[in-house]
Amino acid sequence: MKMMQLYAALKSDLQAIEDRMAVTVTSDFPMLSETSLHLLKAGGKRLRPVVVLLSGKFGDYSLETLKRVAVPLELIHMATLVHDDVIDDANTRRGQLTVKSKWDNRIAMYTGDYIYAKALTVVTELDKVRIHQILSGAIVQMCLGEMEQIRDFFNVEQSVRNYLLRIRRKTALLIAISCQLGAMATDAPDRVSNALYRFGYNVGMAFQITDDLLDICGTEKAIGKPPGSDLRQGNITLPVLYALKDEVIRDQLLREIDLIRENNGQSGSAAAVQLVRSSRGIGMAEQLADRYIDKALKALNGLPDIPAKRNLMDIARFVAKRSY
Ligand code: IPE
Ligand code: IPE
Ligand code: MG
Ligand code: MG
Repeated sequence: MKMMQLYAALKSDLQAIEDRMAVTVTSDFPMLSETSLHLLKAGGKRLRPVVVLLSGKFGDYSLETLKRVAVPLELIHMATLVHDDVIDDANTRRGQLTVKSKWDNRIAMYTGDYIYAKALTVVTELDKVRIHQILSGAIVQMCLGEMEQIRDFFNVEQSVRNYLLRIRRKTALLIAISCQLGAMATDAPDRVSNALYRFGYNVGMAFQITDDLLDICGTEKAIGKPPGSDLRQGNITLPVLYALKDEVIRDQLLREIDLIRENNGQSGSAAAVQLVRSSRGIGMAEQLADRYIDKALKALNGLPDIPAKRNLMDIARFVAKRSY
């Protein structure tokens, strides 16, 4: 099944989530509505709500309950993107101007804070303290991941393990808990929510590795932002770390990365991107992403054979092959 067909099956429930997100961020203060709805209306894959709904199928499925998890999770994701574009000095996202670019950094910081806070008001409608604890724990980890990324800018000596720990925090945990909370909210057994957490974690790791690969290999049209942005800001991702292990290009790549640092990214990163593209780093990173997908699929093994299980498998396969 294609990703779009899968979405079609969840269409009306996803639309309800979409509507609730729009209502949630709409404010009496017109500019806050405008800035918040700007990114919401630009679209996005809605991966987190999709896995919440599918995970909810393993429990006592209730759209009303699942909305109270899916809406906050997607809004938290969106809030981090608004902030992330300030940190990454990014001008486009989802093929549109970023909030920081259309307005400015100050407005983007408060828009992100506002979306965060609104997200939390929705989850408090659920009377399950454990869910609140898991959600706030994941936000803390995301902050740590983004801080670690700043700390590691231009650090060409960092280990692959270091990179993996960072993406675990900044990306994989939110996807892991989207699965886990979908199951917990609908009172699925612990065994099920734990397996779904492992599924989401491994999908999330593959998802960020693929995101980092797309930043090197993708086209602006497909990924909605100019490629090479990571290197331009000094974010040394997995394909680059692997490319640096390639003796043939290592010295040249180090020189190019040094140049980017000296020019504060002003000169662009095309030469470095080209070197990484031509290296073994791409294939090696793809292989690691595939290993995470295998682990994700294995995590589903013990779960009941309901259609949602097959849908989750399709999502895992989509993540490994995605081009946007
Ligand atoms: C982008 O996430 C940030 C990462 C965690 C890689 P998505 O690729 O899910 O962004 P949208 O929501 O589809 O725009
Ligand atoms: C996204 O990270 C932000 C978080 C996961 C918190 P990236 O900076 O890698 O994502 P894009 O490429 O801007 O979407
Ligand atoms: Mg970014
Ligand atoms: Mg970033």
